[in-house]
Amino acid sequence: MQLTDAIHSRISARGFLDNPVSEATVRQVIELARHSPSGSNMQPWQVHAVSGKQLQRVIEESLAFAEKHPIGSRKKEFQTPTENFIQPYKSRRFNVGMGLYDALGIDRKDKVRRNEQLLQNFYFFGAPVGLFFSIHRCLMPGQLGDLGIFMGNVMLAAREYDLHTCAQGFWQDVQPVLHDVLDIPEDYFIFNGMALGHIDPEHPANSLISGREDVDGFCQFAGFEQ
Ligand SMILES: Cc1cc2nc3c(=O)[nH]c(=O)nc-3n(C[C@H](O)[C@H](O)[C@H](O)COP(=O)(O)O)c2cc1C
Repeated sequence: MQLTDAIHSRISARGFLDNPVSEATVRQVIELARHSPSGSNMQPWQVHAVSGKQLQRVIEESLAFAEKHPIGSRKKEFQTPTENFIQPYKSRRFNVGMGLYDALGIDRKDKVRRNEQLLQNFYFFGAPVGLFFSIHRCLMPGQLGDLGIFMGNVMLAAREYDLHTCAQGFWQDVQPVLHDVLDIPEDYFIFNGMALGHIDPEHPANSLISGREDVDGFCQFAGFEQ
């Protein structure tokens, strides 16, 4: 697959088929992403790739945890309070959320169905594989950008194998479960999860195409006309 096609065809998929993805394929995706650059080549990424019964356990224990600690109730580390957001970020965030509800036919005021959609994160939107990306706390926050680059490359590498992804900051809310079930030492910060699998092209959530600012809206060019 051409890089251009990988970039254009990648979306955050929020509806997957239950076709399995083999360990060998996940390995190939991670094998490509491991070539990512990082500050001083420290390669700060740790990945837990989870499927089958182990994924089921993650889901079940996370749901049980969330009964006692509702999503959003725990103070998140390294997350800017949303009330600090200014424009245009506030509007972009709002618009993509509303776009998703519209795609799913969820009334904007229907808090119950909105919450049901949020809870789909627990099930990786039906994907057969969940990836978790963590980083040693001694490298934070400086090397978080490296982890972001790595995750971006996982998303693009997945397209090479006809797979789709959805990054999930959501999983930061259930860190204690992940430390426990996946045996991730406490001195590692679990930055994000990611659903990985075959997209369900019929799922209405996947009809959402999020917009992007034009280049001139965020990039200033200087010194080219010599
Ligand atoms: C770091 C990161 C965390 C994200 N966390 C979530 C999440 O928890 N749940 C979710 O449904 N989407 C999540 N997303 C998906 C974004 O909403 C999505 O990338 C954005 O709206 C742009 O849409 P696109 O990926 O389809 O182009 C996340 C994306 C990134 C990059």
